[in-house]
Amino acid sequence: MQLFPELFVYSLIMENNHAIRVENLTKLYTPRRKPVVHALRGISFSVERGTIFGLLGPNGAGKSTTIKILTTLTPPSSGTATVNGYDCVNQPLETRQSLAVVLQQNAFELYLTVLGNLRTYARFHHIPGPEANRRITEVLDQFGLYDERHTHAIDLSGGMRRRLQVAKAFLSGKPVVILDEATTGLDPINRRTTLEAIRQQASKGSTIVLTTHLLDEAEDLCDRLVIINHGEIIAEGDVAEIKRLGVPAYTMNLIFKHITNNTLNYLNDQNPLHLKHNKTTVDITVQRSHQEILDLIKELDRQYGLIHFEVHTADLEDVFIDLLSQQAEGRI
Ligand SMILES: Nc1ncnc2c1ncn2[C@@H]1O[C@H](COP(=O)(O)OP(=O)(O)O)[C@@H](O)[C@H]1O
Ligand SMILES: [Mg+2]
Repeated sequence: MQLFPELFVYSLIMENNHAIRVENLTKLYTPRRKPVVHALRGISFSVERGTIFGLLGPNGAGKSTTIKILTTLTPPSSGTATVNGYDCVNQPLETRQSLAVVLQQNAFELYLTVLGNLRTYARFHHIPGPEANRRITEVLDQFGLYDERHTHAIDLSGGMRRRLQVAKAFLSGKPVVILDEATTGLDPINRRTTLEAIRQQASKGSTIVLTTHLLDEAEDLCDRLVIINHGEIIAEGDVAEIKRLGVPAYTMNLIFKHITNNTLNYLNDQNPLHLKHNKTTVDITVQRSHQEILDLIKELDRQYGLIHFEVHTADLEDVFIDLLSQQAEGRI
């Protein structure tokens, strides 16, 4: 260490910069009288402090299993996971003290009011009175729960209950907040409020890990993403990087003068990732270079007559589906 003091300090800083580290994590479930499930097949990732990290994947990908390991609810079969520098297997207490979690199942006191729930939670976490009041006011406001503060949880809509649960997690003031599908199934208004509140919390320095199978949610929120499928990481990076991993994909909204079977056949021959048509309007996503897209539009106009077109880069969903299918075919 004497020889390279800078290096040593640097490596410590690097370590401290990560709120979560997962290395070669595997998980085998061995249910009785059922085949063994390889829920995780050796995944590694790390999450920088103060960032929003998205764990994405379709149902059964292994997201909740990863969260259960991080929150010490289940041990990994092999590999290591640390939260806030604490080992999830060997330092379960310190790990649990470093994080707040919203699991897929709801957990709150149905017969307490919103305020009652928040106060009970604050007391449980030994947050001193004045500080608790300050934080409760803050989350009531952020999560749009102020008007409902005297409503019993049992009388809240599903979306409002979800909000209360996420608000509770942030009330704890823990450095790491983990949300397992917390924003899934929310109506658009509930969702916007919840996502906005999550963003605000991250800007104050919380590290947030969220899982979702909804890609637009991740696209809106996450600084970094890992996409898993069948217990393996299939893509990693920020939204722009993930998009670049696929062959460039563009979505075009086209309006034709008329649509005939010939038009549709021509469009189908382009091997679209998505194709939807309604009367004279078509939404189509194809993998092409920028120039090829321009050529295709010219050709469509020449052969079939376009009234209007718009082109934008494909959203994460298209790239995601493409990555998954490439993996299934063994191409990546
Ligand atoms: N307790 C369990 N016993 C057996 N298999 C399980 C158990 N929990 C999850 N699995 C299986 O592990 C795989 C990953 O599940 P999970 O981590 O819940 O995925 P996700 O949260 O991405 O939908 C699935 O095939 C699921 O059926
Ligand atoms: Mg899950």
